[in-house]
Amino acid sequence: MLKRIYLIHSIILFLTIWALSCTPQTNSVKDVMDGVVTRFYDTMDENELSSLTDEKIMQLLTVDEKKILATHYWMFDVNMPATVSIMRDVDQQHIPFWLEKAGFEKTDLSVRNEEYTYEVWQKNFDPGRVELGINGFDMHRPHYFVAVGPQKAGQKLILSHFYPENQHIERMDNGAFTYHDWDELVLTEVPEEMRGLQLLTTIRGRAREAHLINAFRKTPFPSSTQPDQIMLTWGEDPRTSQSVQWRCNTSVKNGAVKFWPADGEEETEAVQQAAVLQVMEDRLLQNDRFVHRFSAVLKNLKPDTKYLYRVGDPAGGPWSGIHHFKTAVKEGQPFSFIYFGDTHRSPQWGKLINKAFERHPQSDFFTIGGDIVSTGLYRDDWDKLFEYSADVISERPLMPTLGNHDSQDGLGVWMYRDLFDLPENGPSELEPERTYSFTYGNALFLMVDATAPNQINTDWLRQQLNGLTATWKFAVFHFPPYVFDSEFDTDYKEIREQWGALFDEYHVDMVLSGHVHHYMRTKPIYNQQVMADPSQGTVYIISIGIPNKKFDMPARNFIAKGFGGEMLYQTFEIDGGQLVYKTFNLDGDLRDELTIIK
Ligand SMILES: [Fe+2]
Ligand SMILES: [Fe+2]
Repeated sequence: MLKRIYLIHSIILFLTIWALSCTPQTNSVKDVMDGVVTRFYDTMDENELSSLTDEKIMQLLTVDEKKILATHYWMFDVNMPATVSIMRDVDQQHIPFWLEKAGFEKTDLSVRNEEYTYEVWQKNFDPGRVELGINGFDMHRPHYFVAVGPQKAGQKLILSHFYPENQHIERMDNGAFTYHDWDELVLTEVPEEMRGLQLLTTIRGRAREAHLINAFRKTPFPSSTQPDQIMLTWGEDPRTSQSVQWRCNTSVKNGAVKFWPADGEEETEAVQQAAVLQVMEDRLLQNDRFVHRFSAVLKNLKPDTKYLYRVGDPAGGPWSGIHHFKTAVKEGQPFSFIYFGDTHRSPQWGKLINKAFERHPQSDFFTIGGDIVSTGLYRDDWDKLFEYSADVISERPLMPTLGNHDSQDGLGVWMYRDLFDLPENGPSELEPERTYSFTYGNALFLMVDATAPNQINTDWLRQQLNGLTATWKFAVFHFPPYVFDSEFDTDYKEIREQWGALFDEYHVDMVLSGHVHHYMRTKPIYNQQVMADPSQGTVYIISIGIPNKKFDMPARNFIAKGFGGEMLYQTFEIDGGQLVYKTFNLDGDLRDELTIIK
């Protein structure tokens, strides 16, 4: 248990300051890679970009570029003569180009974890700076890691002045983890003579920093001067504000929203609200590397009121067509919303959300329970998601939560945070907008980033629920607390126990999750026991918004209904103390339902 707490703390520390510490220095690996990619775009066609090899890349890099890639990737000082060991995955095809040249020698030692075998390369250093190079151009995710020890046994070796700055140090031994984004992967075979060394951990995401081989992507939906990806969210009070986001290419430097009451006239009543511009870069997106994202918050709106709006360039560029939004109902007024489990930017999900909106146009907003896309750091993934759902998300707010596919390799969720304007009322230990809450009508929505360390969210959930007066309470997060194939070491026991206890204490009505790609509704649960009535416990839902496998779900006493093989969405109609919950498939067939009356 202690070990686990320690790990969690180290991960929090590592992940929260990773972005800051990665602020590149001059002549950094990032500078070099930005320049190299720019040069490649200027001098190569699509075929050449997609057929780059290690040999070819080495021919194309300048001496100075190679020098920085060989030395400015991972650095620290040693205060005495030290031996540096580099553990390199034996399955990585190309040995990092700098390793032998820098004087590292391959030893007979090897280190293993449950998945990989690492050969050990060593070099002796004098007191002073240790400079190490990139992992490779191939995005080999079992990244190398480092161990350091004094050349003379028994002396106190001090490591300092790290780059990246937030270096975490473990004790090299069996049971030690090496990757912060996969802390359950621990070393299983560490040679006797290496035990006790200082182990410098990393994240697998660093393998992307010099990625060039099979690296270049294209988006099927590049930006243009015409605003697109027009999307509604709520970053502030849904009754009196509306956040609007959209995208243009980099030639469009200004953005604004014009909005007016639905029963009014654009010419005489439209108000113009300037938008904030943010440049978003996906370096490896060859046909749309940079885009301009615009974000505006419309404030001082009347509750429960429909407005018309358009977005565009107030400096004389194009404007969108007219869309509409409606501010939130007052507390106690009826409302409805729609939930999706994993959506994975699938075109089939695009059909599903359009069908759902067509059938339930009265829905006030939409939510997604994580795995919104499949690779959260690929902007082309988001381009697909927004394109497929464009006709819906420009008319109804989309309030998402993060899944493991949206938050990968320990690299954070900056793209998600740049794309969605969401409430910044989450835990202070987490980046804003990752976990948040909002109130709509008489319901509270706890939107939890379940990929973040559990304890941070547990404390926050308690704060949110304590003293709360909302009639209905929903928690939305990716990892399901109850699954039919509970294996106690692979399921979400901590979430079930820690968050479940709070859902019991404060009577959260429903928990909406995804991740396992099938449908399930539990009977009401309290204290991990099945209860007779929803007034006595929480109903846990798992849903899935993309094609998935048909199978017969084994009977479990806590399952009210469960099946696979259909793409689904859920409607929630709330009227005072009554909630009507329904699950529909793509064809519109009613597949499950439940009414709760308070
Ligand atoms: Fe998924
Ligand atoms: Fe998932």
